Amino acid sequence: MSVETFLVTGCAGFIGGHMVRRLLKEGFAVAGVDDFSSGRRANMADFQDRIRFVEGDLSSPRVAAEAVAGVDRIIHLASIPSVPRSLEKPMESAQSSVMATVALLEASWRAGVRRVVQASSSAVYGDAGDGAAAETWPYKPGSPYAAAKIAQENYARVFALQRGLDTVSLRYFNVFGSGQDPDGDYAAVIPKFIAAMLAGDRPVIFGDGSQTRDFIQVDDVVEANLAAALAKLPFGGEAINIGRGGGLSVNSLVRELNRVLGTDLKPIYAPARPGDILHSRSDPGQAEKLLGFRPRVDLAEGLARAAGVRI
Ligand SMILES: NC(=O)c1ccc[n+]([C@@H]2O[C@H](COP(=O)([O-])OP(=O)(O)OC[C@H]3O[C@@H](n4cnc5c(N)ncnc54)[C@H](O)[C@@H]3O)[C@@H](O)[C@H]2O)c1
Repeated sequence: MSVETFLVTGCAGFIGGHMVRRLLKEGFAVAGVDDFSSGRRANMADFQDRIRFVEGDLSSPRVAAEAVAGVDRIIHLASIPSVPRSLEKPMESAQSSVMATVALLEASWRAGVRRVVQASSSAVYGDAGDGAAAETWPYKPGSPYAAAKIAQENYARVFALQRGLDTVSLRYFNVFGSGQDPDGDYAAVIPKFIAAMLAGDRPVIFGDGSQTRDFIQVDDVVEANLAAALAKLPFGGEAINIGRGGGLSVNSLVRELNRVLGTDLKPIYAPARPGDILHSRSDPGQAEKLLGFRPRVDLAEGLARAAGVRI
């Protein structure tokens, strides 16, 4: 039997790099596409010469067609994944997420791709209040980024319905792990805190720190992507949560990081950012039922891996 070929879009990004390494380890042939809009060439240094790489913006039908040529399954991660950046640049957000997805789905259908697994986000739920967000909840977008992810999900459903292209959207909650960019205004909270705290600086919390997030380690997300890509049954455009099912406050995160890093740094509190939601927690039941997926990496172990320390 010949080896299947995977395409990872956004392969120069944080999750993309982990995904490519795992697929290569599993023995698959891998292609990648990226335009370096938020990813970096350096993230690909260890695998660049082992994949077929297409450099370009996926929203171009020419780039999309070149990327999908000869591909069996796709892990679609390309998108600029920042709520604040999307509020500043909604057109850029729509282009990088929505138009790139439509071009990819169209090209995938034409090329006879077997399945497209795409990254959606917990942002589609907006604020979860006290509850655990279930896939049956209505959309409640609070930012252009969330609106773009909802559009991505809907296009994936429509291509499944109208064209018979098998698609599934995985709604990742807050993903963290090694190789995540700690720099800039749009950096995610965990790499930012780790970089600051390892340098002996106090972490800056936007808001009072009572906001909660469902943090999931990147190796678990890679596992979920692989399970979805290889599952026997067709998904027909379904959306599935990928989270741990636990809500951790940002204040507790700082406490946990102090423990893991052996530091004792008190946070500095700054005004809350517009568009940021208060509470986010997943109901992980569907992922277990449909993908047989359960997160394996516990939080302290995941934080230690991300910080490159042993606990
Ligand atoms: N990191 C998280 O916590 C998180 C949570 C929920 C969902 N997601 C989703 O997971 C995916 C990957 O996120 P990440 O954290 O690895 O982000 P990332 O910014 O590190 O990676 C995204 C990659 O996509 C590339 N890209 C963006 N637009 C492109 C385009 N039009 N054409 C080609 N390449 C393009 C970027 O250059 C980058 O390398 C995104 O779709 C994101 O929305 C991430």
